[in-house]
Amino acid sequence: PADTTDPSAAADLTALEEAGAYLRTSDIPVAFPTETVYGLGADATRSGAVKGIYAAKGRPSDNPLIVHVCDLDMLRSFLLPRGETINGSSSSEPQGETIPQIYLPLIERLWPGPLTILLPNPQLSKLAPEVTAGLGTFGCRMPASALARTLIKLAGAPLAAPSANASTKPSPTAAQHVLDDLEGRIELILDGGACDVGVESTVVDGMCQPPVVLRPGGVSIEALRACPGWEAVEKAYKDQAEMGAKTAPRAPGMKYKHYSPKARVVLYEAGFEGGKSGVLEEDLDKALEGCVGHEGREKAIAVIRTKQWPVAAGMRSVGLGQDSRVQGSDEDDNAGLGTTSFFVRQGALLSANGETTAARLLDVDLGQDIKRVAHGLFAALRELDRLGADVIFVEGVSDGDDIAAAVMNRLRKAASDIRA
Ligand code: TXA
Ligand code: MG
Repeated sequence: PADTTDPSAAADLTALEEAGAYLRTSDIPVAFPTETVYGLGADATRSGAVKGIYAAKGRPSDNPLIVHVCDLDMLRSFLLPRGETINGSSSSEPQGETIPQIYLPLIERLWPGPLTILLPNPQLSKLAPEVTAGLGTFGCRMPASALARTLIKLAGAPLAAPSANASTKPSPTAAQHVLDDLEGRIELILDGGACDVGVESTVVDGMCQPPVVLRPGGVSIEALRACPGWEAVEKAYKDQAEMGAKTAPRAPGMKYKHYSPKARVVLYEAGFEGGKSGVLEEDLDKALEGCVGHEGREKAIAVIRTKQWPVAAGMRSVGLGQDSRVQGSDEDDNAGLGTTSFFVRQGALLSANGETTAARLLDVDLGQDIKRVAHGLFAALRELDRLGADVIFVEGVSDGDDIAAAVMNRLRKAASDIRA
């Protein structure tokens, strides 16, 4: 995992120094690991460099970027106007505390870590205007990944960085994912292995009363609530309540906006067992008819499980009538994504009438540990794309105030048109 990488190892340090030097002058961003997902970083003070991020990602320029700092001194320096520094202010005024009070308990307890705070962007800001997309605030985070913090320090400037995926794709949690999306568009990817957390940072705004969570992520709402001044923190994103509690599967329209693999994603909010009985069988049947197979090959149907639903054991009877058969091997095929491992079982399904509705069933078990689910979710969506899945049925987790809120938030976006 990125946060246990020892950046003092000589080879690592050489690579980091090279990347740091590159970042100082290049207008092409560098992909680097953080504990959440891989970021696509550029010097946040240079417009040309920041524009390079939007260009490489194909990201709309009205979506602001998170500024990554290596320590609090670097942050404080960016809360001062251009020309002023922490130790040698050009004015004779005494230095006050520049970080708003409300954030101090969060910084104390949760930084470095997967938490982004919104701060007022000063007049005559040192940040390139492209970072904030014209807003009066900027998002800032100090990553837990030692590799990321070392890179920022060596670059000598805060790094503006969105997730290093192509726009609308699931965020990358391994260097290979970045390469898959951005090959030919960037020159440097630092490989720090699989990301520990697997979903992006929690974004909070403490400049309003009560403070709000804009995006659930790696820091849980429980952990925020335990901080002084944050007991009454509210959710400012759409969750299950607002989107309508559903036990029926949530399926998207044809256009995807976010976290979207190529396959159509169908989410079972309450899990496969919580849905109406036989729901998966019926839907598998429909999927066989309804999904558009890629040219010249059989359809592939994927199931991502997070509970004990025994797809593997039940494969022979799933959705295809009594005479259904599983062809091919039942052997586990380890997808082998660095330290992210899950198993994909493949079998070719033949319909009862023995006709041409042959399909492959791709069975992914993420297990019941919610941290493992978060860690492996984006990798699973990407792997299923790679294996050619036409439709992906996903079993939801119950979203409490832990990281499950982030998992369900991403899954709802992948399975709907809603962009929050
Ligand atoms: O974990 C993460 O946060 C990763 C790693 C690389 O640090 N970064 C990431 O960046 O997820 P990105 O660009 O994919 O998502 C940033 C989110 C967006 O939803 C954006 O709208 C929001 O943060 N954001 C950034 N600055 C903001 C601002 N000033 N006001 C409101 N929202 C902001
Ligand atoms: Mg992103």
